[in-house]
Amino acid sequence: MCGIVGHIGSDISSDVVLEGLKRLEYRGYDSAGISFLSNKNGLQLYKKTGKLENLLEVLKDVETTSNLCIGHTRWATHGGVTDQNSHPHRHGNISIVHNGIIENADELKSEVVDKDFEFKSETDSEVFLALVSKYNSQSSSFKEAVAEAFKHVKGNSAFVAMNAETKEIVAIKRSAPLACGLNPKNNDKFVSSDPYALVGYASEIYFPDDEVLCHLSHDEKIIKFYDLNLKESEKFQHQKADTSSSSTDKGEFEHYMLKEIYEQPKLIQELVQDYIHGKAARHLAKVKSKEIDRFLINACGTAYYAGLLVVDYLELINKIQASAYLSSEFRYRNPLFQKNDAALFISQSGETADTLAAAELVKENNIPIYSLVNVRGSTLYRLCDQNLLIKAGTEIGVASTKAFTQMALTGRLMAASLGGELDDESKKKNLEKKFLLLSERINDLISGVEKIKEIAESLYNKKGYLFTGRGIYYPVALEGALKLKEIAYVHAEGYASGELKHGPIALIDEEMVNIAVAGPELLEKTISNIQEVKARKGIIVTIGPENNKELMKISDYYIPLNFNGLDELSPIYVNVVHQLLSYYMAKFKGNDIDQPRNLAKSVTVE
Ligand code: M6R
Repeated sequence: MCGIVGHIGSDISSDVVLEGLKRLEYRGYDSAGISFLSNKNGLQLYKKTGKLENLLEVLKDVETTSNLCIGHTRWATHGGVTDQNSHPHRHGNISIVHNGIIENADELKSEVVDKDFEFKSETDSEVFLALVSKYNSQSSSFKEAVAEAFKHVKGNSAFVAMNAETKEIVAIKRSAPLACGLNPKNNDKFVSSDPYALVGYASEIYFPDDEVLCHLSHDEKIIKFYDLNLKESEKFQHQKADTSSSSTDKGEFEHYMLKEIYEQPKLIQELVQDYIHGKAARHLAKVKSKEIDRFLINACGTAYYAGLLVVDYLELINKIQASAYLSSEFRYRNPLFQKNDAALFISQSGETADTLAAAELVKENNIPIYSLVNVRGSTLYRLCDQNLLIKAGTEIGVASTKAFTQMALTGRLMAASLGGELDDESKKKNLEKKFLLLSERINDLISGVEKIKEIAESLYNKKGYLFTGRGIYYPVALEGALKLKEIAYVHAEGYASGELKHGPIALIDEEMVNIAVAGPELLEKTISNIQEVKARKGIIVTIGPENNKELMKISDYYIPLNFNGLDELSPIYVNVVHQLLSYYMAKFKGNDIDQPRNLAKSVTVE
């Protein structure tokens, strides 16, 4: 949450930072701001609530040429969404931006901060500014002041502090994402919460460890790293910048979410190429080389629902016991570990705070940790013993779509590798066929989207929505409800079909919609559950097999799917219907689909 960007070097600072903020807006869009040392007018600070475009409007006629700048997009934690609470915060020549939470902010405010420091905001972040300002007047260097300030703060955070007098930037973090970038050709140096902000600017990327100071100045040709005692440190990882990021404009699409839904057929084909025929297969083989009796799967949100499908795959195909846990719960529940356990962490961003904390907990217990992750080089990627990249390309829409599909399918490939399916030519061919069939069916579904759009138009104003599914369709009932809640702002719940009569059926009346998945598995039982809703006058939308007359008769709306040959991959196919229904309902409601209210793409705080 919150996007941070900083630059020092040539006269492109404000442009680079604003472009970086545009790329990081998915991390929070409550407000945005920049602080820069103008070549003409000294230190400047501009910040504005709302999206980045509001800030750009304010900056329209401002002379922004500068070679020193930091900026921030905010997802509010402490303090309301106001201009004053927006970042950067400034005191004299010092400006700071912050991502995270200072847990002892009140204590520091009353006990450590100078009594005459004039607070301008209600944020915890400004306490860090007050500390840096205090120690700056007592220290021999700016980095010493930042180190002293950082020693006092508790909680997970990343800070970037800029001194316009000494012309330097110092950044530091604890369990929060932070990357530095360097372009050795022109001595430009960068800092950001996500290297994605630096694509095209920096060729070298550095990931500092926790509590390592990153020092960026005009004088040095490199970025320097120090421990908290100001001894030079080598506790950082270095990698070449990723230039393979997929195209990140919307192209012909009105929203990123729609573009990302439409990308799915092609991404599935690429997954086959990479993992069944290409180099990525060796990563699958590495997971296989361990003796594993039990998988503990951990994730949050959509990634957790993909994890539930991976549980089904591991149990169905490999007969390996598997359980999925919400990381926010797992980390506090004193989990019991056994010999030959392995843990699998699933995450699009690789930066979700709870998932990372759970991974650290498991690692401390010497359990091998694997990931299904989208962002190479992310914190999760660097933490895990072995990573299986889900290869979804950059996902910009806050509501995750293609990442779900790729997570579940990469999990299926992992199960295939563990079960020896990929070592047997005919089984491998069958699996490939199934993946390609899925890609084809999703393509057909997308081509016939008009029908889903019409259903969405008739239903977007109803009282509530129950998504139901049995067996392997239960995870996508949960995911369908989450998607609809996130972007259409309506009440939706996912339920196992058989559970309705244990409570939620009380909600059914003529204004309540049941989106029922009726796949081939346990079809008769699912039909009975739909009948029960029908008898109570609920509105039935069934996603069911083609030509099932009985289901068509009892449904108010019917979305026929060709399930043949897809077997355990069919929930992923069904889920695309859920994605499209949610998308169009949100569109008819006129909502902000790519940046839904109150959310941020990467949840880097607890
Ligand atoms: O980056 P991650 O996959 O770890 O993110 C996990 C969740 O925060 C994420 O899936 C969230 O639920 C999405 N907004 C769902 O659309």
